[in-house]
Amino acid sequence: MKLLTKSLIAGCLLFAGVAVAKEGVQDPTVKARMDLMGSIGMNVRVLGDMATEKVAFDAAAAAAAQQALVAASADIAAKFEPQATDPVSEAKPEIWSNWDDFVAKAQALNTAATNLGAASLDDVKAGMGAIGGTCRDCHSTYRM
Ligand code: HEC
Repeated sequence: MKLLTKSLIAGCLLFAGVAVAKEGVQDPTVKARMDLMGSIGMNVRVLGDMATEKVAFDAAAAAAAQQALVAASADIAAKFEPQATDPVSEAKPEIWSNWDDFVAKAQALNTAATNLGAASLDDVKAGMGAIGGTCRDCHSTYRM
């Protein structure tokens, strides 16, 4: 179980590696959704660095990151709804042909973020696997 959580966290940190929208993005709608994903990535990294004990647990920082994740994930549907394109976008067109499923996957992240306890290191460790699973679940279907 411990190992599983660790690998889920590591998988998620890979996604968190790109923290800001890609250079050269022209379309403002695409830029806005990339920026949203970038902020999701940064907040996951804050929690992931604590969960892997790369940085010391900080209850205030964990709570702030958790709340930012809850808010950002609630904004995914609104930011992705306009079907904008850009040469550097990695969004697959299936997002808009399977819109309800995409929204359900965004909701799954919102639920995982809401359920993450930020009061202790053990709570953060326990909640990160579920969060990482929702990143992968959506990216593997809807991101190139
Ligand atoms: C509901 C679907 C969905 C969920 C859930 C999701 N993502 Fe994404 N993410 C996408 C899509 C689609 C793109 C590609 C957007 C584009 O290039 O237009 C993306 C792109 C990204 C990017 C790259 C942004 C850029 O500047 O190009 C990062 C970083 C990212 N996601 C992190 C995360 C992390 C971390 C999680 C989990 C906490 C997560 N995402 C959850 C759909 C999702």
